[in-house]
Amino acid sequence: MSAEDQKKAAGYAAADLVDSGMVVGLGTGSTAAWFVRALAERKLDVRCVPTSQATADLGASLGLTIISLEDVTEVDLTVDGADEIGPGLALIKGGGAALLREKLVWEASRRCVVIADAAKQVPLLGAFPLPIEVVAFGHRTTALRICDALAECDLGVAPRLRVKDGAPVRTDGGNLIYDAPCGRIEDPAALARALKSVTGVVDHGLFLDLADQALVGGPGGVVRLEP
Ligand code: A5P
Repeated sequence: MSAEDQKKAAGYAAADLVDSGMVVGLGTGSTAAWFVRALAERKLDVRCVPTSQATADLGASLGLTIISLEDVTEVDLTVDGADEIGPGLALIKGGGAALLREKLVWEASRRCVVIADAAKQVPLLGAFPLPIEVVAFGHRTTALRICDALAECDLGVAPRLRVKDGAPVRTDGGNLIYDAPCGRIEDPAALARALKSVTGVVDHGLFLDLADQALVGGPGGVVRLEP
């Protein structure tokens, strides 16, 4: 089974968790897009909170009812992809630059399910460069403070400004992304704290203690994992 087929299988399995009447958080990325398609096919009476403009556009084009996080106090279920799934369902997210809106929707959700292909499951987080969202004003000095925070966590690495087609990538909120090639993140909680303490850092792609379940597509079908 190809990685794409594994993502599709996970997305369709997650759509089975949705019931009519729910407020559903829609993740961002290629795996989440399979969930959005599968959910639209079920034609349930649900309202959907997207985590990016791209997902809002996809959902609307498929006939889903799109609302904003400001329209609700709580989301029943959010389904989203990940760049890495580590022990205890600790995650790295943000490869698609949507980490801030994703985290806001995840934290507002009663239940969060991460969907992925098997290659995303890792014994230790960090091979995927950790996305860090920063405000544009003074971002180069913020990057120096991020270096200090990484060093505090014994990570002697320099974050790189994410650039696409020759220009810095802007998030939906107008911020910039730095990617930190950590390699091995031995203590994700300590790193999360250190990064959040840097002025100018809006958030980072470590999603800790947020996922309630993972649905991972693999050669033998979809496997369900708990933290
Ligand atoms: C978006 O910012 C990310 O958090 C995505 O959810 C993550 O990059 C996974 O994307 P794919 O499903 O495309 O691998």
